[in-house]
Amino acid sequence: MSLLFLAKRFVAGEELESALRVAGQLNQSGMSVSLNLLGEHVANREDAFRSTAEYIQVYDRIAEAGVDSNVSIKLTQLGLNIDESLCFDQVSKILERAREYQNFLRLDMEGTPYTQRTLDMFYRLFQGHKNIGVVIQAYLFRSEADIDRLNQFQARIRLCKGAYKEPPELAIQKMPQIRANYMRLARRLLKDGNYLGIATHDDILINGVKEFVGRESISRDSFEFQMLYGIRTPTQAALVKEGYRLRVYVPYGTQWLPYFYRRLRERKENIWFVLRNLFRA
Ligand code: FDA
Repeated sequence: MSLLFLAKRFVAGEELESALRVAGQLNQSGMSVSLNLLGEHVANREDAFRSTAEYIQVYDRIAEAGVDSNVSIKLTQLGLNIDESLCFDQVSKILERAREYQNFLRLDMEGTPYTQRTLDMFYRLFQGHKNIGVVIQAYLFRSEADIDRLNQFQARIRLCKGAYKEPPELAIQKMPQIRANYMRLARRLLKDGNYLGIATHDDILINGVKEFVGRESISRDSFEFQMLYGIRTPTQAALVKEGYRLRVYVPYGTQWLPYFYRRLRERKENIWFVLRNLFRA
């Protein structure tokens, strides 16, 4: 029996077609989408090839279905841990297909063992493909320096707090300081960056960004808010109503456990929500 019903709040389904249905509904509510095939840390080349084939199909189906969606991937799903040149080749193929449709690819950021390798891969791919962006995590001490360099290339950045458990030598541990760093980086990117993705559900940050862009007369077309599927849905609708751009990250697929675990870890109430559903089933 599939246990997907436990994660159903955060995951669109196991099949691409379910994810496209959800994407279509979100589009109708005025939201853009980023589709993600769940999966990370593939163990062999065949699995990396399979992920590539699926992502190529995702771009085809996005175009056929006429949905407003780009795609987010994790490099360890495309073989980063097996062989970097294999990974480079796989992502290049995906980017070629994205380019045929004038579509965009975002490299998600994984834990710190992958930060530098993800950025290195981003710069390598960026030489041949401008339809690619990356993610910066505000909890990392290194992020400001990373932004300095990325801004020189006018790279498109998604800014998030960071979802992995990181040691105190590498990452800020306390929420008020993470928030303060997030706002500092967001202000810089809103002024000097290229179409920033503000990925957060945190009202303090959302209100901070609204206040800043209002005060500095920054166009609402020069950035977008981004949120995860199933989290703070009323806030998502409210932002659209207020005239802000909003993109919803919609994951799908059978490999939902690590993603689901990260969502539970972020919020204790989710564990109770899952347990209630488990005992109801
Ligand atoms: P915070 O966790 O403080 O949440 C603020 C409020 O939002 C909570 O009080 C609650 O109401 C609600 N909320 C937040 N998380 C919830 C949850 N799991 N369940 C229910 N309610 C919740 N990270 C990363 O390391 N690499 C990446 O590539 C990405 N990519 C990414 C894309 C997008 C579109 C988003 C929105 C987030 C990411 N993240 C990520 C995750 C990010 O780093 C972070 O872990 C989460 O967004 C939670 O942090 P918030 O800023 O939302 O604040």
